[in-house]
Amino acid sequence: MSIEYDPLEFKKLVPHTREELVAALHEHLSDQRAAHCLRVEQQAMAIAYEVGADVTKAGIAGLLHDYAKERSNAEFVALIKQEHLDPDLLNYGNAIWHGVVGRYFIEQELHIYDEAILQAVARHTVGDPEMTTLDKIIFVADFVEPGRDFPGVNEARAALKISLAAAVAYELQHTILYLVEKQVKIFPRTFETYNVLGIHKED
Ligand SMILES: [Fe+2]
Ligand SMILES: [Fe+2]
Repeated sequence: MSIEYDPLEFKKLVPHTREELVAALHEHLSDQRAAHCLRVEQQAMAIAYEVGADVTKAGIAGLLHDYAKERSNAEFVALIKQEHLDPDLLNYGNAIWHGVVGRYFIEQELHIYDEAILQAVARHTVGDPEMTTLDKIIFVADFVEPGRDFPGVNEARAALKISLAAAVAYELQHTILYLVEKQVKIFPRTFETYNVLGIHKED
């Protein structure tokens, strides 16, 4: 089933058509990554519909979540300085920046200013102990969209069938384990998120 945008709401949030947003994705991303964004859009809308969240905001945030993923490190560093973001960000890289810093590319280039959408994009790379439902939807949609194929993806999809909270918890556990195995630095907020949302008990 394909779930539709609310056209009036879309118009209020985005000064472009959806086709223009898709064209902007293709301008800045490989075909493969643009296709991933389209799948995350659909996945996010489906989860939002399921949990009774805003389907239109979920679709827009899902569509744009990786908009900045292929920018150069120099562009990210320049924005971190320009926006006076936490200088600790400079100790990380694209995997963190394309969300946390990526939101500013969306604001500045696409003129989308809805804080809930921008925050969901920002948080998709690191999480946050206070993730909203929309934040969680984008976080999980990115992880389980139908094109994903990694050890654990079926467990993540099964967790989502239980609840959004269960899927968030599974994703946090999986991500932290994966990063430890790769022996890369973990952004402190991801640990904080794990401590709050990563230990899931169904009530
Ligand atoms: Fe991403
Ligand atoms: Fe993604």
